[in-house]
Amino acid sequence: MPRLEPVPEAHIDFAYGIYFLDQRHRLIRALKKRYKPSIHGHKTWGSSFLLMDYLTHYGLRRGAGLMELGCGWGGVSVFCAHRFRSRVTGVDLDPAVFPYVDVLAELNEVTVRHLQADFTNLPRSELVDQCYLVGSDICFWDSLVKPLGQLVARSFEAGVERVVIADPGRPTFYEFCDLMAEDHKVDLQAWYSIEPNRFEGEVIDIRPRS
Ligand SMILES: C[S@@+](CC[C@H](N)C(=O)[O-])C[C@H]1O[C@@H](n2cnc3c(N)ncnc32)[C@H](O)[C@@H]1O
Repeated sequence: MPRLEPVPEAHIDFAYGIYFLDQRHRLIRALKKRYKPSIHGHKTWGSSFLLMDYLTHYGLRRGAGLMELGCGWGGVSVFCAHRFRSRVTGVDLDPAVFPYVDVLAELNEVTVRHLQADFTNLPRSELVDQCYLVGSDICFWDSLVKPLGQLVARSFEAGVERVVIADPGRPTFYEFCDLMAEDHKVDLQAWYSIEPNRFEGEVIDIRPRS
């Protein structure tokens, strides 16, 4: 079981080595008055803790380039920057998420570069610097399945080594997994996280075949 970490004030959680602010924290309440994410990026989703747990178990090369697709509040970005010293870029279509990323990054004394972009349309110039692409709960619409698959193929062509995506188990995610298994080396596992609460879902770890 994880060590019980005393938190410095109310409405702060500690999970996977990182401090998080919950919805009732005064900073989050202040941000919510000014910035209103509109594509579901309005909280840290459970799948992000799933991904943190999975990456804690399997690890990442220290100091490597990492892009978080659909980063939302950037929980996974901050975790990777802290745990693996990853050089992190958080990508999101919705600019309203980045103030939340900044607060979380500041709180944990790490740096996360922002990229406001559609992850289905990322240029090769952004992919060539990355060793890893990661994402949590980013395959939630039918319209995302194929474009996300095409991104994985393009990222491997650009030199990305691994793509790791966590999901609560949506039908669209399983469609994406089937698509990935056609062309790439795929490891799909049921997984659970225990910090800050128990959460269950799936993680797909995708590598190029050759
Ligand atoms: C369900 S939230 C998950 C956020 C975060 N990954 C987490 O687990 O807490 C989905 C995120 O993906 C972003 N998003 C959706 N479609 C996108 C796209 N085509 N390109 C970039 N970001 C996108 C949304 O703005 C939102 O922040």
